[in-house]
Amino acid sequence: MGTEKQGGQTAGASKIAPATGKLGVMVVGLGAVATTFIAGVEAVRRGLAKPIGSMTQMGTIRLGKRTDNNTPRVKDFVPLADLKDIVFTGWDIFEDNVYESASHAKVLDEKLLDQLKPYLETIKPLPAVFDQYYVKRLNGTHIKKGKNKRDLANQLRADIQAFKKTVDRVVVIWCASTEIYIKATDVHQSIEAFEKGLDNDDIAIAPSQLYAYAALSEGVPFANGAPNLTVDFPAMVELSKRNAAPICGRDFKTGQTMMKTVLAPAFKARLLGVSGWFSTNILGNRDGEVLDDPESFKTKEESKLGSLDYIFQPELYPDLYKDLYHKIRINYYPPRGDEKEAWDNIDIFGWLGYPMQIKVNFLCRDSILAAPIALDLVLFLDLAKRTPELRSLGVQEWLSFYLKSPQTAEGLYPEHDLFIQSMKLKNTLRHIMGAELITHLGLEYYD
Ligand SMILES: NC(=O)c1ccc[n+]([C@@H]2O[C@H](COP(=O)([O-])OP(=O)(O)OC[C@H]3O[C@@H](n4cnc5c(N)ncnc54)[C@H](O)[C@@H]3O)[C@@H](O)[C@H]2O)c1
Repeated sequence: MGTEKQGGQTAGASKIAPATGKLGVMVVGLGAVATTFIAGVEAVRRGLAKPIGSMTQMGTIRLGKRTDNNTPRVKDFVPLADLKDIVFTGWDIFEDNVYESASHAKVLDEKLLDQLKPYLETIKPLPAVFDQYYVKRLNGTHIKKGKNKRDLANQLRADIQAFKKTVDRVVVIWCASTEIYIKATDVHQSIEAFEKGLDNDDIAIAPSQLYAYAALSEGVPFANGAPNLTVDFPAMVELSKRNAAPICGRDFKTGQTMMKTVLAPAFKARLLGVSGWFSTNILGNRDGEVLDDPESFKTKEESKLGSLDYIFQPELYPDLYKDLYHKIRINYYPPRGDEKEAWDNIDIFGWLGYPMQIKVNFLCRDSILAAPIALDLVLFLDLAKRTPELRSLGVQEWLSFYLKSPQTAEGLYPEHDLFIQSMKLKNTLRHIMGAELITHLGLEYYD
């Protein structure tokens, strides 16, 4: 990358390994989100559609002063894998290939899917690690058998090793169903305890943790797109650091929570109070069916609830947010399929306590919003793995931008404000490329 063209980056940039060769993407769960992601990448590669919603493909980044007029595309600034170099595979508990699964999901129209059919049919899932105890509403048929959890994790490791032989680098992303709510226990506190738990079939070790353990053991980055407890506990953080395999989670920030983390910071910035926030959703895809089970819903609820508390900081602003009543509902409603509808009623109050209301009605498409996030996470995790400064950090907090319940270093509260997250992400890119950070101070324009 020429320093001239990119605007002032120095030695830092040269230490990042180039994105040469093939990037293998292993997707856990080839359902609605995953197939929309995979088919979308192929449609873009063929020039049939644009990668809308993806920062890595369409985003730009300002470098230097506002007067410099230097705003390259993100993908021209940092060395990311090219879409043409991505090779997909994945696991699922059903045998359907990606074409069949995408057809069932009914997110993309038949005309587009038919054009992509010969390619999509070639992607067939590997048998999954699954146990109905952790996802009550599904009953898998295409699953691995093993004598214990250690054995199952080793089978996943063997899948990753075999795929590694066909590509140059690998990233794993969880796009599978939401598992039941699990709290971290002693078994999650160190690699040693976790490995003992694998041998003893510890009940607090869910299948998603086996995939994460397998990936990290192989030095492969792992992203968690769902709200289940998967990489966010000390054993995984330790393994991630030890094997220089970056991690991030949890839960793609797509529709309602994305809007929440835009609106709430605006109220707080203007010191407007909020007394109530009622959020409800209807959705009819398989994700909706899984979330209809109270134990999976609890996992999602926890993930969705957290953002407001952190953004409003009621302990600092008791007059404005101490009594906030926050409620979230998700209702399974089959007629809507993937075309979810979300309503938010927000009771706010202003000057002298006078009340007002805001209504948000978001008619969205769940997987259309999630697919570009999956793409960006995969490409940025691969970048992190090639960046000496990032690869051994464990948690990649700069990817919070994409996540509903972002993982942080121990003892840190998560940053939920979408615009702070966006600044953090872009400043991280500037930093690793040796470019100047942008603080938005701007006094120099008035000297
Ligand atoms: N779409 C969004 O906007 C969005 C946002 C945030 C999070 N998510 C999460 O992303 C995940 C995927 O959503 P979706 O709409 O694609 O759901 P989906 O039900 O269409 O797909 C999930 C797939 O995972 C498979 N699966 C389940 N357990 C598995 C296992 N142990 N191993 C391998 N495969 C397994 C299922 O068979 C299914 O094909 C869900 O957990 C959802 O909560 C989605």
